[in-house]
Amino acid sequence: MDNKDKVAIAADHGGWHLKETLKSFLKDLGYKYTDFGTSSEKAVDYPDFALALAEAVRAGKYKKGILICGTGLGMCMSANKFPGIRAALCNDVFTAKMSMEHNDANILTIGGRVVKENLAKEIVKVWLRTKFSNAPRHKQRIKKIKEIESKYMRTLKK
Ligand code: RB5
Repeated sequence: MDNKDKVAIAADHGGWHLKETLKSFLKDLGYKYTDFGTSSEKAVDYPDFALALAEAVRAGKYKKGILICGTGLGMCMSANKFPGIRAALCNDVFTAKMSMEHNDANILTIGGRVVKENLAKEIVKVWLRTKFSNAPRHKQRIKKIKEIESKYMRTLKK
């Protein structure tokens, strides 16, 4: 299996427990994964873990990543600072499905203190199994996200 087909996964202390559960679940589903930490319930800063995982996804080392914190918000906000990253906070199955089908999300974020284990598993399963629709209207909208990124990058360089 190519590294790219592995799922990158990381969490802060608020998501650590769910990350451990999801790791076994990923294995059951037949996915390999790389765990970017954290490794306990000791308090850590979520941007550090979002950074490590988002950089690996952005660099093309992994096609998909999962980030978990207490609400999923901090991870989502941090990951979306990286050009090329489309992180989607999905605490329900419908949003998870749409985030792939319409938004071609490359990172899923979940709130470890928001969703129960079984729901989180369903969210992950649906997210990993759903494909981008490739419809021209959705491609066009993603292109516009990329245009916003490059426009802003140009402004920063000035
Ligand atoms: C940590 O207490 C908590 O703030 C974090 O896990 C996350 O919910 C932030 O968005």
